[in-house]
Amino acid sequence: MFTAMKCRPSVILLHTLFWFSLDGICYSTPSDIECLKLIKKSLKDPEKNLLDSWTFDNTSEGSICKYNGVECWHPDENKVLNLRLSNMGLQGQFPSGLENCTSLTGLDLSSNNLFGPIPVDIAKEIPYVTSLDLSYNDFSGKIPVNLSSCTYLNSLKLQHNNLTGQIPGQLSGLSRLTEFDVSDNHLSGPIPTFQAKLTQSNFANNAGLCGAPLDACAGTSKKVNAGNAHQEERKN
Ligand SMILES: *[C@@H]1O[C@H](CO)[C@@H](O)[C@H](O)[C@H]1NC(C)=O
Ligand SMILES: *[C@@H]1O[C@H](CO)[C@@H](O)[C@H](O)[C@H]1NC(C)=O
Ligand SMILES: *[C@@H]1O[C@H](CO)[C@@H](O)[C@H](O)[C@H]1NC(C)=O
Ligand SMILES: *[C@@H]1O[C@H](CO)[C@@H](O)[C@H](O)[C@H]1NC(C)=O
Repeated sequence: MFTAMKCRPSVILLHTLFWFSLDGICYSTPSDIECLKLIKKSLKDPEKNLLDSWTFDNTSEGSICKYNGVECWHPDENKVLNLRLSNMGLQGQFPSGLENCTSLTGLDLSSNNLFGPIPVDIAKEIPYVTSLDLSYNDFSGKIPVNLSSCTYLNSLKLQHNNLTGQIPGQLSGLSRLTEFDVSDNHLSGPIPTFQAKLTQSNFANNAGLCGAPLDACAGTSKKVNAGNAHQEERKN
């Protein structure tokens, strides 16, 4: 098995020509394979919808691109672009290993039986995602503030989970966000001001949420919310 640590010392001893050819094998390939191996290890797949095709018996370039739910940047390079693992009966907590899919732009884990917290350091694991769909699972705990560091996000779907607490005001800083849905959770407190046009249905069925586009919060001014304060223009 190749890893960066194992390859490096022997590589240095070789002729430059071989250094270049080995460099690709030792550095570009194993990270994304490691990513999928760790994901497979951290999830249960009782319906065998997915993980049985992730066999890792042939790890040549492009091999993982044929796996169920895996979409690569290029069909003959092991660089994962999107993981589409929706509705596969997957069980367990938020999978580990995603930080090894270093070029991942889309993650869809929707409509499975995943539970537990959304990682507090999620931006470290999936820093470049433009689309994150965790909807229709059983994720609980708070929406991590750290999602505000996933600055490429344009779609964030968290609806139909068991999330509690407030929507972090910092999420209003996600300037590319056009789609945001947290309906059917147990969220409370004021809704931050988003730059995207969002409707009541994006926030529906959370007993404690208030503020536009829902009803105004009782006895609080809009300025209380950090997200709103952050957005106020200074024109004086
Ligand atoms: C996977 O990611 C971890 C943390 O970033 C890193 O230490 C490790 O070397 C990576 N594994 C591979 C095979 O690249
Ligand atoms: C491994 O996969 C590559 C690319 O998909 C393919 O060309 C090759 O024939 C496979 N090797 C074996 C032993 O199956
Ligand atoms: C999110 O986590 C990353 C990596 O740990 C960190 O650099 C960043 O500052 C965090 N962002 C927030 C808003 O907590
Ligand atoms: C929702 O989360 C709470 C803990 O925050 C837990 O007690 C409860 O069982 C969860 N509900 C469901 C339907 O999983």
